[in-house]
Amino acid sequence: MASARSILLSALLLAPSIHAQNFGGSGRDADAFSYVQPLNTTILGPYGHVPAVYPSPNATGAGGWDEALAKALAFVAELTVEEKAWMVTGVAGPCIGNIAPIPRLGFTGLCLQDGPLSVRATDYASTFSAGVSAAATWDRDILYERGYALGEEFRGKGAHIALLPVCGPLGRSAYSGRNWEGFAADPYLTGVAMEETIKAVQDNGVQATAKHYIGNEQETQRNPSGSADGFTVDQESLSANIDDRTMHELYLWPFANAVRARVASVLCSYNRLNGTYACENSKAQNGILKEELGFQGYIMSDWGGVHSGMSSIEGGLDMNMPGGLGTYGQYWDAGSYFGDNVTLAINNGTLDETRLNDMIVRIMTPYYHLGQDSGFPAVDPSGGDINTFSPKSTWRIDFNLTSERSRDVRGNHGELIRKHGAAATVLLKNENNALPLKAPKSIAIFGNDAGDVTQGFLNQVNYEYGTLHVGGGSGTGRPTYLVTPLEAIKTRAAQDDALVQYWLNNTLITSSEMPDLWIPKLPEVCIVFLKTWAEEGSDRQSLSVDWDGEEVVASVTKYCNNTVVVTHSSGINILPFADNPNVTAILAAHYPGQESGNALVDVLYGDVNPSAKLPYTIAFNSSDYNAPPTTAVNTTGVYDWQSWFDEKLEIDYRYFDAQNISVRYEFGFGLSYTTFDVADLAVEPLAANITAEPEALDILPGGNPALWETLYNVTVSVSNTGEVEGATVAQLYVGFPDSTPAGTPPKQLRGFAKVNLAVGESKQVGFELMRRDLSYWDVVRQDWIIPSGDFVLSVGLSSRDLRQVGSVTPISA
Ligand SMILES: *[C@@H]1O[C@H](CO)[C@@H](O)[C@H](O)[C@H]1NC(C)=O
Ligand SMILES: *[C@@H]1O[C@H](CO)[C@@H](O)[C@H](O)[C@H]1NC(C)=O
Ligand SMILES: *[C@@H]1O[C@H](CO)[C@@H](O)[C@H](O)[C@H]1NC(C)=O
Ligand SMILES: *[C@@H]1O[C@H](CO)[C@@H](O)[C@H](O)[C@H]1NC(C)=O
Ligand SMILES: *[C@@H]1O[C@H](CO)[C@@H](O)[C@H](O)[C@H]1NC(C)=O
Ligand SMILES: *[C@@H]1O[C@H](CO)[C@@H](O)[C@H](O)[C@H]1NC(C)=O
Ligand SMILES: *[C@@H]1O[C@H](CO)[C@@H](O)[C@H](O)[C@H]1NC(C)=O
Ligand SMILES: *[C@@H]1O[C@H](CO)[C@@H](O)[C@H](O)[C@H]1NC(C)=O
Ligand SMILES: *[C@@H]1O[C@H](CO)[C@@H](O)[C@H](O)[C@H]1NC(C)=O
Ligand SMILES: *[C@@H]1O[C@H](CO)[C@@H](O)[C@H](O)[C@H]1NC(C)=O
Ligand SMILES: *[C@@H]1O[C@H](CO)[C@@H](O)[C@H](O)[C@H]1NC(C)=O
Ligand SMILES: *[C@@H]1O[C@H](CO)[C@@H](O)[C@H](O)[C@H]1NC(C)=O
Repeated sequence: MASARSILLSALLLAPSIHAQNFGGSGRDADAFSYVQPLNTTILGPYGHVPAVYPSPNATGAGGWDEALAKALAFVAELTVEEKAWMVTGVAGPCIGNIAPIPRLGFTGLCLQDGPLSVRATDYASTFSAGVSAAATWDRDILYERGYALGEEFRGKGAHIALLPVCGPLGRSAYSGRNWEGFAADPYLTGVAMEETIKAVQDNGVQATAKHYIGNEQETQRNPSGSADGFTVDQESLSANIDDRTMHELYLWPFANAVRARVASVLCSYNRLNGTYACENSKAQNGILKEELGFQGYIMSDWGGVHSGMSSIEGGLDMNMPGGLGTYGQYWDAGSYFGDNVTLAINNGTLDETRLNDMIVRIMTPYYHLGQDSGFPAVDPSGGDINTFSPKSTWRIDFNLTSERSRDVRGNHGELIRKHGAAATVLLKNENNALPLKAPKSIAIFGNDAGDVTQGFLNQVNYEYGTLHVGGGSGTGRPTYLVTPLEAIKTRAAQDDALVQYWLNNTLITSSEMPDLWIPKLPEVCIVFLKTWAEEGSDRQSLSVDWDGEEVVASVTKYCNNTVVVTHSSGINILPFADNPNVTAILAAHYPGQESGNALVDVLYGDVNPSAKLPYTIAFNSSDYNAPPTTAVNTTGVYDWQSWFDEKLEIDYRYFDAQNISVRYEFGFGLSYTTFDVADLAVEPLAANITAEPEALDILPGGNPALWETLYNVTVSVSNTGEVEGATVAQLYVGFPDSTPAGTPPKQLRGFAKVNLAVGESKQVGFELMRRDLSYWDVVRQDWIIPSGDFVLSVGLSSRDLRQVGSVTPISA
């Protein structure tokens, strides 16, 4: 999705890419049948080859959608060519994306709404925790519960299609502006999060959308850049150049989970992929998604991500969002490669109508499968009033917005958000039993992240004052209320009749005036709130906290030897003050959503024992991270923006492990108010006569079903060895045998289990290893292969706190 900030500043930011999209005009051969971008091997090196995969395969209804497919086929049979063209092309309307109604068939249209943590462009909806927070829980139940509650709100507002969840970006680079919208810098954890979220959303009869497919690992130059008039493309989008193995084992992996969970739609990304735009890349869309993974739903474009007509359609794209000009309406007063051009292309014989039919069948099959043809709530008209993306003045058709407006869909979700926020708060440091707080009578609070926002809830700018509960862009929320940390601490501290003093001006705190203000004496605990903004459309400039946060900590710790630091951040921050002995505790609270303060207080005061774990690595120095975004090119060639995924499989902990770099807080790390141990690792084989190659079964959504067969159950016993009840996450990491091709990371997450334990209690947990978990992608055989030799199975409480080791040998050497 285009950033909502760009929408507000449309003249500056959005218009160029939209105009470029719709008018082309850069000399690109937009409508050529088998358009493949001209290749320059000097620039593209070993990549730059997109294997042509045509034609786009028809949906078959495989995996339980056959009844719905039959209904979709019957629907398509009723349509005129012009109606067909507008079933695959968006129009301006009340939602962020709209497919026009066809009243004569009783079809009321489709409403598509942002985004991953909220029904964004509406009122009386909740703002949930961000993806990074949800991932930090490592809790399947919470991932499902969050997804289900989100689905209820989309349904309540009449949104057929929820533009969530995000697994691209995956987290290749620490700097990417959208990492917080996705889950973890690991495909396994992200894959589980995708499945739980998709099932939960779709259990409400709402379609989920897996995005952004694929290689969208940075924001810089994600769209073409052009001249100031917005009509000329000077340089095309960045090309993510990804080798086949890395594609399968990292970036595609969670999309495979999404397809297996029967996701209704997949949204293709803005970037180019190996030189060709993702939304017209036939290898990625036809070859990988529809053939290899057996995807039965539809591919929709990111907003303005379409750069051709025929090439996109033949390349596998099924729906153009947000669409364009035509009989039914117009978008931004510009034309569209789809819409009436599709009608023309059918009528002049360029486009085979069977392809157009399949596009609509793919769109309507999940619609029928999820029962959206009967009893689905009508679109809440209030969203249309605040939809800056296609304001009312741009609508060209009657959407019959007669249903009740401003429907309150929040239910009890505030309670869930509070619970999810507390479960997502990672305790990174806790010395001298600083936490939980023991009814302190004097508390001092510092930092511009503690208090209320002063410039409105729209949350599209990194304002100086106000706590950060979500990031910016289309993935933000529009909260109906926000509980700040300051407010929540004041409320809680009142129970102890405590003195609560606070200074929220970072400039003041870091000035020499500060000590004089500490009256009447040093507080028992100082709590410093730091924030780090990130938003769609741009990448982070730095991995430090914003607003001189490190200096704020230094100013406070000079005097206060019991300083608790809390960060509200999009993700990775280097935390140099972690070495300071006066910093007694650090909590990474990420973006917890509207109940931010309450969730934090639950952890600070010990009502909730922290159990979250980092879904990425915190290194010692910014310079320790690899794979930075491509931020500039020195040449002016149209195709010069390239991003070489040369680190291959070595992202995040895979890199730090492979290069033997010590880190401050490793992937999977997080403390508790109690302690745990892991014992009794055992491996139970669940399949006999395992072969290196999977049996070639008929493809189902998710790919060859043999890849999802469970081969082993690894079990351990986890016990609570401390003095309070608490939960932890047992984590299984797999080391591949030496026979695996070079470049295989030393260990990879392949199982996790969240377990809650009373004092002294032990429980057995199991990690079911599937064939895919023990395979590498063989680029020659074009299949998942189990290498011969011993696999090392390590179970522990983080990626570097491994307590039990075992092994299996599925294929003897
Ligand atoms: C390919 O790119 C290189 C580097 O920008 C440039 O020097 C060369 O002229 C290009 N070749 C063609 C055929 O465009
Ligand atoms: C990208 O290029 C690599 C290397 O040539 C190739 O193996 C892979 O199939 C390509 N992927 C796509 C989606 O074009
Ligand atoms: C899709 O189905 C139609 C109708 O059965 C058929 O004519 C067409 O060839 C099929 N397309 C592909 C790519 O199989
Ligand atoms: C058809 O596509 C072209 C770009 O190829 C565009 O300029 C034109 O406006 C489109 N026509 C309509 C009716 O949308
Ligand atoms: C058919 O229509 C398409 C869409 O407008 C256009 O791009 C193409 O050039 C036309 N082909 C012919 C042969 O007229
Ligand atoms: C408009 O909506 C109302 C109630 O939802 C429905 O009864 C009516 O038939 C609709 N009108 C049209 C033209 O679709
Ligand atoms: C913050 O403190 C600085 C230094 O005392 C002062 O100049 C500035 O005006 C203050 N800002 C606000 C918003 O009060
Ligand atoms: C820690 O706080 C004490 C005051 O309690 C102060 O004397 C000392 O210098 C501080 N240490 C650091 C590293 O700031
Ligand atoms: C922290 O400072 C207080 C007040 O100066 C002092 O009583 C206490 O011993 C110090 N604690 C540590 C761990 O240094
Ligand atoms: C651009 O050129 C400068 C100076 O030669 C060089 O330091 C820099 O690395 C180049 N940047 C890129 C992206 O090639
Ligand atoms: C496993 O393979 C052996 C040797 O080929 C065969 O005798 C045995 O029946 C197989 N077991 C199963 C369960 O398929
Ligand atoms: C794996 O082990 C766990 C823990 O004992 C158990 O709950 C689970 O049912 C087992 N799974 C299979 C497939 O045997």
